Amino acid sequence: MTKRIGILTSGGDCAGLNAVIRAVTLRAHHGYGWKTVGIGYGTLGLLERPVNARELDPARLDAALAHRGGTFLGSTNRGDPFAFPMSDGSVRDRSGEVADAIAALGLDGLIGVGGDGSLAILRRLFGPTGVPFVGVPKTIDNDVANTERAVGYSTAIAIATEALDRLQPTGASHDRIMVLEVMGRDAGHIAIAAGIAGGADVVLIPEIGWRLAHVTGHIAAMRALGRRAALVVVAEAAGKSDDPPDPSGDAPDRHGMGEWLAQRLAKATGAEARATVLGHVQRGAEPTAEDRLLASALGVRAVDVLAEGKGDRMVAWWNRQVIDVPLDKVVGRSHTVDPDGTLVRTARALGICLGDAG
Ligand code: F6P
Repeated sequence: MTKRIGILTSGGDCAGLNAVIRAVTLRAHHGYGWKTVGIGYGTLGLLERPVNARELDPARLDAALAHRGGTFLGSTNRGDPFAFPMSDGSVRDRSGEVADAIAALGLDGLIGVGGDGSLAILRRLFGPTGVPFVGVPKTIDNDVANTERAVGYSTAIAIATEALDRLQPTGASHDRIMVLEVMGRDAGHIAIAAGIAGGADVVLIPEIGWRLAHVTGHIAAMRALGRRAALVVVAEAAGKSDDPPDPSGDAPDRHGMGEWLAQRLAKATGAEARATVLGHVQRGAEPTAEDRLLASALGVRAVDVLAEGKGDRMVAWWNRQVIDVPLDKVVGRSHTVDPDGTLVRTARALGICLGDAG
């Protein structure tokens, strides 16, 4: 009997999602003779009536799709069905409507591509339906537990590194401090990786308590030695480190970190400083080859996991292999930068100031 599996993308988009959808559809078709149903706009599509879903034609998912950014199915990082914000301002549990939609679609399995927040919601939603669910980790933040890599992270690093490559010559031409604010939610993975690759002088991440005084001291010392320009990378949530970075205690807890820092550094060092907020540019690009590879490998494995009769799992990249792990070991946990790990040690060895006393 031909099986039908569903796929949806949920949470903030990132590069590589189309490559996952393609890999799932091709594996289902060529490997098992299964049909794949694409659900529109994550869980929002399951709340629409008629349900926003359509069968995907494997013949139309060519190479052009693998390198296109975004998700052609659409996604949402709003509207948790368990606490759905209604237009009259009230909040309603609409999870029953999602279950009805899944039953109406007649699915034998579901694949959800999401970050930690989405995977937790999807698991809670789909568990009671009895339809086996497999998650595929994606997020530029790379903070999903129990996978070394999430789809979208490689592309985000590449974009942030390219931004530093462009900020360096203009900063050097004007002897300026160039501050680059990058995304990452509560994790500093993008900041530390791009900072090393792009030759930053300072990298500030939420996982390492830092002090403004240490940063200004480092830049002042550089300037005294004749290095008058500086490249600074700051993660959007760096101000949320346990120690307040500045005695004034007014560091923003996410939005505006780059501008706040540039102003403080200019005042303390007497140098000109400019801030660039990279924002959604980090999400909307063509995926790197590495992200396409990861997306393809994870997508294929997700279908295989369903074929093995398993559910409540997430496919993961671990030790150069694709594996699958119980979702129990993923939801409610977070993978942040290890303050004693290889990247932090590499940064320190290169003389990059991390804003702490180390
Ligand atoms: O989780 C991905 C992410 O891009 C974070 O890095 C960022 O904090 C957030 O989403 C931005 O969300 P939105 O697209 O809703 O502005």
